[in-house]
Amino acid sequence: MIESAAVLDRLIAEAAAALRKARHVCVLTGAGVSAESGIPTFRDALTGLWQNFNPEDLATPEAFERDPNLVWNWYESRREMIRSVEPNPGHYALVELARRVPRFTLVTQNVDGLHQRAGSRDVLEYHGNIMRDRCIVERVIADRSDDSRHGLPRCAACGGLLRPDVVWFGEAIPAGPMLAAAAAAGDCDVFLSVGTSSMVYPAAGLAETAMDAGARIIEINPSATGLSQAATAIGGRSGVILPRLVAALA
Ligand code: OAD
Repeated sequence: MIESAAVLDRLIAEAAAALRKARHVCVLTGAGVSAESGIPTFRDALTGLWQNFNPEDLATPEAFERDPNLVWNWYESRREMIRSVEPNPGHYALVELARRVPRFTLVTQNVDGLHQRAGSRDVLEYHGNIMRDRCIVERVIADRSDDSRHGLPRCAACGGLLRPDVVWFGEAIPAGPMLAAAAAAGDCDVFLSVGTSSMVYPAAGLAETAMDAGARIIEINPSATGLSQAATAIGGRSGVILPRLVAALA
């Protein structure tokens, strides 16, 4: 669904006009915004993580209970990959967009921390952050004990097993980001959905909340999603479209 140049110019001008008038812009990002940094998405054919790995074996509390080593090896390999890449122009354009509108809320489903590395502040981490460890006993972010070097990571405070601070399938969204994101979606007048398949709830419900509140929905994605019909859908890669959108605000 990559647009022709003329259609792209028109859609970007339309979206920029809506952003220029906006009082509050709420952005929801997904794995697609990090794809141009070299991090695979989840569901893209062939390259998507869930095409090559079974989420039931790696991203559920049951999987972790069954085989914490397997899960930790996978998360350590993803951490390594994330440390080896950099934010892309799409991430930086959102930092700039935040400066250009009266009120800006950034909600991300991504656990990679690339928005923050690009300079975005107050990012609502809807699915947590892969770089943090959480103690499964005390259920808090924790430091690693020295023993962690020889096996599974352990909590420095209580010795309990640590897990990545991410949301696994079947788990609840952390209350803070969930409530703040719902409030922002219900208050914004422009909702920008970038690089997400809009398939995973409750995150995918935020656009519906915004729509019900009368907000203008703009989507940036090289492929159509379930949201495209209800949005100003701009077909293209976020690392290309977002900088153009911000440039068009001038
Ligand atoms: P998906 O992999 O489901 O969707 C990625 C979307 O990004 C697809 O619609 C692609 O077309 C689009 N895309 C690919 N390259 C892009 C680019 N360069 N620019 C813009 N868009 C691009 O990823 P998410 O929607 O983020 O949850 O998945 C949602 C959640 O499902 C994740 O947070 C994770 C996963 O299971 C949990 O683990 C809880």
